[in-house]
Amino acid sequence: MRSGSYRIVSNSTVQQGAGAMPFRSPAARENDRMWWLAHGEHEVPPSLGWLSLHERKHLASIRFTKRRNEYLTRRWTAKQAIATVLEIDRTPASLTRIEVRHRPSGAPYVHLDGRAAEIDVSLSDRAGWAVCLVGPPGSAESGTLGIDLEVVEPRSDEFVADFFTSAELEHVQGLTDLDRRHEAANLIWSAKEAALKVQQVGLRVDTRTVEVQLRGERRPDGWAPMHVTGAAGPMPGWWRRDGVFVLTIASDAQREPPELLTTGSSLAGAVPVHSWVGRPTC
Ligand SMILES: CC(C)(COP(=O)(O)OP(=O)(O)OC[C@H]1O[C@@H](n2cnc3c(N)ncnc32)[C@H](O)[C@@H]1OP(=O)(O)O)[C@@H](O)C(=O)NCCC(=O)NCCS
Repeated sequence: MRSGSYRIVSNSTVQQGAGAMPFRSPAARENDRMWWLAHGEHEVPPSLGWLSLHERKHLASIRFTKRRNEYLTRRWTAKQAIATVLEIDRTPASLTRIEVRHRPSGAPYVHLDGRAAEIDVSLSDRAGWAVCLVGPPGSAESGTLGIDLEVVEPRSDEFVADFFTSAELEHVQGLTDLDRRHEAANLIWSAKEAALKVQQVGLRVDTRTVEVQLRGERRPDGWAPMHVTGAAGPMPGWWRRDGVFVLTIASDAQREPPELLTTGSSLAGAVPVHSWVGRPTC
């Protein structure tokens, strides 16, 4: 399939077998498709030949190792995902053609060969791992996607009371199993961040202006439905737990879960890393 002047990925680069798109509705439209993948910071090549000039300039302005690692991991992950979806080869020279730039709000958009590409994108990283959500085609102007990655870790009662709505607070406090409680707290937080990315406002607004509802059973492919409501309207989405990570995606319309691209790494066995601790500045 083509969108504008770009070719869009065929199913051969989407993970097949157990858990691969078993629930894809025949009615799902091609332009509703989304894709995702993950990469770890250890996979980012040390040479910077895959960055554009603009990106290298930005990198040179970063003084803190944590921020540098996060930026590189997000960019590497995004370029791998976008190149796969647009069927561009993934040599360093070709990857320089792809840039993820920012709107004034901070929301990302894809630049390809010097102009905005008709494809939507959202990025997140946590503890040495980054994720990228791509699609649907033809939505460069809209910024309709949000993705967020978190580690399942303890969140204090104060955190939940400060940032969650009363219904969310009640849901978390109603869970007696500690792991399920931590999972729910991180999941709801992550879903809020994903939704606030759809709204393109991020944490500039009160996190209680969006409310997360966890709906329905987890599917065999690992995705479970969720629903976020906010001032801008409903933001349906999906969440999954992979090892110690929880991943959420939200968008402006009801869609099937994103398809996993084969060019990424598995989050299921991923170990969180904080490699910057020993060398905080670049
Ligand atoms: C969006 C936000 C919540 C994400 O924060 P985070 O959890 O630390 O970071 P994540 O790794 O999950 O996501 C980072 C990505 O979010 C995206 N993002 C940033 N601002 C965004 C916005 N307004 N809308 C949608 N996406 C946004 C970017 O793609 C960014 O990665 P990039 O800079 O490499 O392109 C946060 O950046 C934010 O609140 N931004 C708005 C407020 C702001 O700009 N503050 C300035 C810094 S104090």
